[in-house]
Parts: sequence; C-alpha cells; structure tokens
Amino acid sequence: MLIRVRKKSELKEHQVTPEAIYKQRRRIVQGLGLGAAALSLPAGANVLSNLLGKDEPAAVSDFGRKPLVFSQPDAYQPALTPTAEQVATSYNNFFEFGTDKSDPVRFAQGLKTEPWTIEIDGEVEKPQTIDVWAWMEKQQLEERIYRHRCVEAWSMVIPWLGVPLASIIKAANPTSKAKYVAFETLYDPEQMRGQASRYVGGGIDYPYVEGLRMDEAMHPLSMLVVGMYGKTLPNQNGAPVRLVVPWKYGFKGIKSIVRISLTEHEPPSTWNKLASYEYGFYANVNPNVDHPRWSQASERAIGAGGLFGSERKPTLMFNGYEEEVASLYAGMDLRKFY
Ligand code: MTE
Repeated sequence: MLIRVRKKSELKEHQVTPEAIYKQRRRIVQGLGLGAAALSLPAGANVLSNLLGKDEPAAVSDFGRKPLVFSQPDAYQPALTPTAEQVATSYNNFFEFGTDKSDPVRFAQGLKTEPWTIEIDGEVEKPQTIDVWAWMEKQQLEERIYRHRCVEAWSMVIPWLGVPLASIIKAANPTSKAKYVAFETLYDPEQMRGQASRYVGGGIDYPYVEGLRMDEAMHPLSMLVVGMYGKTLPNQNGAPVRLVVPWKYGFKGIKSIVRISLTEHEPPSTWNKLASYEYGFYANVNPNVDHPRWSQASERAIGAGGLFGSERKPTLMFNGYEEEVASLYAGMDLRKFY
C-alpha cells in the first residue's frame, strides 16, 4: 500500500501488552466462574474482556448496554496467540483519519458511532435500515481468533466478536440477480479529517468502498465484527461495525460500514480503483503472488517475539484458511485474479 511501514523499533513499550497478561486475565475469569453475574457490574466495566475463555455462551454486559451474548464454536478457536491488544488498537490503517499508523487512534476518538444505521439495499426483496445498536443486542455474538494479514506484509492475530456476514444478507432475501455484495464506509468529512483533505487522506476517493463475490460473502468465515478482545470495537478499528474476511488482505476489511448493497456486477473497491495493478478485487492472501513492489512470501508478525518485537514468518496460502476456502477459487488463475 502506498504507505510507510514502521520499523519495529518504533513500537513503544506501553503499546505492548505481554501475552502472559492476556492469558492470565482469561484464567482469572475462568476461576471466578463469571457469567451472568457480570451483568451486575457497573457501566464502564470492561466486562466482555473478562469473559474471554469461557466455554458456554455467556450473557454479558458492555459499557452499561443491555446484555450481549456470545459463543465460541471450537472450529474457530485455532491455537493462535492473540497480538497484544494495545498493539492491535494503536497500529492501524484507517485513512479517513490519516495515513500514519498512529493517526487512527489519535484522531478517530471523536467519531460519533451512536446512533448508527446500515442500509441494506440493491438486489434484495427486503431492503432494510438496520439500527446497529438495537440489532447488536439481539445477536448471538461469536468470538473468533483470526489471523489478520495486511497487504503491506505485516500481520497480527485478533480475537474478534461478531456475527457471520451471511446472517444479515439472508435476512434481506437476496434476489436471483444478486451476485456480489458491495460495502461502503461513512462519508463525513467533518468527522473524518482524511476525507476533508486529499493530502491527509492519502489521495483516496472517498467513501471507502469494498466488495465480495456472493459466495465469499456467504462463507461462514466472513464476519461482520462489532468487537475485539471481548470489548466494543474501538473507533480506530472500525466502530461500530466492520467486515473481517480472514483469508484476504486486510484492506478488504472495510470499517465503519453504513451501506451493504447486493449487486449484479462486480462492485468497485477503493484500493483497486487507486492502483489496479497493485491491488486486485480478490486480494486473497497468497505467498506465491508478490506485490509489484515487495514479496508476499513472508510477513512481519507484529508484537511477536518479545515486548517490542516482531517476527518474520512465512505467509500461508489463503492466510492459513486454505482448507476452508480454496474450493471457492477452483479453476481460477490466482495470478490473474489477484
Ligand atoms: N476501512 C476504511 N474505511 N478505511 C481504511 O483506510 N484500511 C484497510 C482496512 N479497512 C481501511 C479500512 C486496511 S489497509 C487494513 S490493513 C485494515 O483495515 C486494518 O485494520 P486494523 O486497523 O483493525 O488492523
């Protein structure tokens, strides 16, 4: 991507939470047997995070809202060690707030995420406007620990909270013409400084847009995410709702979504519009197809290898989800459809 990648030495000590602390938190909560009891904790208590690691679906409360419920199907709990939360929430790409990795956490805090609605339209029998916070309260949230691989060749491991994207699409009854799903981020230059200035916003033509083929969108790994590390999604990570498609490069994971449209034809996607020879529509993680300016064979695992660390490791085909998704691309030339 057309942005500078920070050197590992630039990560500050306070940005790194040792993995031991994360694990310890989980253990403490398991020991305490917290569950519905957490409901009585005061507003603002970081309750969802305390419940990570519980086996049964738990009724939990977050920032004083009504209870949310989440479950953890084993299939989505591979043995991955999450990146320190401090790192994942302070080293971000969200160009609406600036192109530096530290800009989103600095400039996104004022984004007003409530109320928030998402329009579902296009090739659907039941177009709808979703009141996101009311909708969220009714969802059975799942925690899924996914690899997160940016096209810039860095990676993290993140415990997301959300729902399968398919559930919201099905609810709108797609017509037989629906072949793709298009997504759009909020456009509000008053709140998003990168939209008010081409210089600050990296020359992107806003709103940020993305798209998936219908079968990709309906795949059980594709998620609409509303939280991470057991908490409400921070603004810099795409609050209140973002997309996560773990076998694709991170730029497909569009943040702060306000519209989901089902379409007959392949929709535009922001990075593809900006530099089509560098960023394809599919953007499947593929160690065998290099970016024109750098190799994709390996990645810098941020926050791994010690407090300040990052470790280089081989990139996995489809980011490690080959078994689940390779069949979606059977017979396709992945060099052509990069
Ligand atoms: N969504 C919007 N609206 N604007 C962006 O600039 N950046 C993308 C993606 N979603 C981006 C976006 C890129 S390049 C990546 S790698 C991921 O968000 C980063 O997500 P993270 O900051 O939660 O790690």
